[in-house]
Amino acid sequence: MKKLLVLLMVLVTVAGGMVFAAGASEVAATGSDLITVGYSQVGAESDWRTANTESFKSTFVEANGYKLIFDDAQQKQENQIKAIRNFIQQDVDYIVVAPVVETGWDTVLTEAKAAGIPVILSDRMMKLSDDSLYLAWVGGNFLKEGQDGVSWLNDYVKKAGRENEDLNIILLQGTIGSSAQVGRTQGITEGLAKNPRYKLLAKQTGEFTQAKGQEVMESMLKAYSDIDVVFAENDNMAFGAIDAIKAVGKVPGKDIIIISFDAVHEAFNKMIAGELNCAVECNPLHGPRVAEIIQILEAGGKVEKIMYVDEGVFDTSNAKEVLPTRKY
Ligand code: AHR
Repeated sequence: MKKLLVLLMVLVTVAGGMVFAAGASEVAATGSDLITVGYSQVGAESDWRTANTESFKSTFVEANGYKLIFDDAQQKQENQIKAIRNFIQQDVDYIVVAPVVETGWDTVLTEAKAAGIPVILSDRMMKLSDDSLYLAWVGGNFLKEGQDGVSWLNDYVKKAGRENEDLNIILLQGTIGSSAQVGRTQGITEGLAKNPRYKLLAKQTGEFTQAKGQEVMESMLKAYSDIDVVFAENDNMAFGAIDAIKAVGKVPGKDIIIISFDAVHEAFNKMIAGELNCAVECNPLHGPRVAEIIQILEAGGKVEKIMYVDEGVFDTSNAKEVLPTRKY
């Protein structure tokens, strides 16, 4: 879009019908009336992430007036910084970033600001020295998600009549320093600290992947013989933990209560099978939300700086009924 305006500005200053005609056909041929969006994606570490990528790829299509430049950073901040610099060089209309970690973005976002390219953050947040370096953020409330997970455990303990039992708890964390990890860990650990019966035995990162979640759970099962509850900061780590628990002859969902985050399709299957007890929702369908922000900006409107998405909590009592309505 920006390129179209530049071209038209050049054309009105150039005399001669031939030049105008040639320029006009070039606009049509390159389709430069599209809004170009560079999306720097974290990676492909989880089912949630795959659904998020799909949401952007299916929203930012030519038929909707967009050209999407998609970059998968493979969970590395340096790749995201490179991608953002490439977007700046390509003079995109908007830069969208799902930042792998919270810190270390000031320099590259200052470069984007100097180039006059608006930056929208999606999914995870950044900690910046100057909030004017981004225009808006849309995503889930990770702190609340963590708190909701502990509330579910509190309810479960009451219903199961286990209030007088000490419960040994393991926390599988996401990528350390990502706002999804920081918020959920805070919500979970602060919530657990309110009940002296809850014993947090250990917390360790499983990097939001199934393989690492399984590996860490295997080592936890070796180190602690009496684990009652596992919090996994995403579904894929919970799936890995379920496999590790089965491998030592224990029954996931019964011998060990498992609470996870995201609530993707497979989490519902696992809840229906009784292997996962609770999945706190984190909605990945941010493509249309970011497109809406861009449309408002294109129309000259203003958007809220921080936009939280509504999210629910699901468990074995409602998984079967809810599964058919799930979009990811
Ligand atoms: O930032 C959202 C988190 O990132 C999701 O919980 C997780 O599955 C993903 O990798």
